[in-house]
Amino acid sequence: MLNAREAVQSLKEYHPPLSGRTGLRLDFNENTERPSSHVLQRLRQLDAEQLTRYPEREPVERFTAQFLGVNPAEVLLTNGVDEAIHLLCQTYLEAGDEALVVVPTFAMYELLAASTGAKVIPVRALDEFRFPTETLLNRISPATRLIAIANPNNPTGSAASPSEMLLVARAAAHAAVLVDEAYFDFYGQTLLPEIRRMPNLFVARTFSKAYGMAGLRAGVLAGPEQQMKMVRKVASPYNVNAVALACLPAALGDRDFVEQYAATVRRGRERLQAMLRSLGIRYWPSQANFVLANFGSCAQAFVAEMARRGILVRDRSSDPGCSGCVRITLGTAEQMDRLLATLEEIVCTMPVGERAAV
Ligand SMILES: Cc1ncc(COP(=O)(O)O)c(C=O)c1O
Repeated sequence: MLNAREAVQSLKEYHPPLSGRTGLRLDFNENTERPSSHVLQRLRQLDAEQLTRYPEREPVERFTAQFLGVNPAEVLLTNGVDEAIHLLCQTYLEAGDEALVVVPTFAMYELLAASTGAKVIPVRALDEFRFPTETLLNRISPATRLIAIANPNNPTGSAASPSEMLLVARAAAHAAVLVDEAYFDFYGQTLLPEIRRMPNLFVARTFSKAYGMAGLRAGVLAGPEQQMKMVRKVASPYNVNAVALACLPAALGDRDFVEQYAATVRRGRERLQAMLRSLGIRYWPSQANFVLANFGSCAQAFVAEMARRGILVRDRSSDPGCSGCVRITLGTAEQMDRLLATLEEIVCTMPVGERAAV
């Protein structure tokens, strides 16, 4: 009988909805509208040869490196940040090693680290989901080989300071430290220049969020040249598809698009946070394109009623420390008008005592 590896058999299953997401999609932190018109134009120009040929990653990798202000040897384009995480796990984790993950956070760190047979050690964020620098430092051991930090973090929207993350990276020189900047465009602070100074630091960015290209699956991993050589060994030479590669330079060339979208999201964030305050719903100030709010014992009913009215939001109640929490992605002004009107209507029908107070 064929048996999957023990580590795979004991893996928890991760079940994000893979079909039927119709309506206003405020559940996955995607761009809620569209990518740059330059990208759409580039898509229309694709010819048959670009599809028959294996994709050529290198020229686009050079372009992306230049955009990021690093060397091509310090950059690997990936099939989304998901693949970047996978590659880091493949490169650095052996069965029995330890991976530290600050929780609550993006589920793929734990899943992909555990799939190697490594032991995942969840480190709980402090109150208000603050970054647990001291606890992390205390949990670093000789067996620690990977530390994953989403900054800003998903689902909390909170961010750690550069000095806190660098302290951790310095204390774990024998571990790969990933700072996942998937939400960088809504936040603006980065550790990217530090990959030159920190020999164990990796920074990941995605084109799935502000750039509006989640369907194309493209991300980028940056790290010290010596380490990227190792990571590149375990990547398929054709990991990023030709359509994504054709579109990336067009996406990177349209800075205005991303800046305007991020500004729209920040305005929506202020509006949603103001409404939650006025309704007495507890929320955590966010640096990303979503807000986590606590609807207490009404959370499930709230998510279901929103869905019935055509707006998808994500129930995060089962994340550590997130009982009653719902994550709401931000979108355009019109989408926020609809969200806020619907949210207010639903919340006003909820029993006051059961809403989690500010
Ligand atoms: C922190 C974080 N990293 C990575 C991803 C996935 O990025 P990609 O679409 O590039 O695989 C997400 C998506 O929700 C995320 O929240």
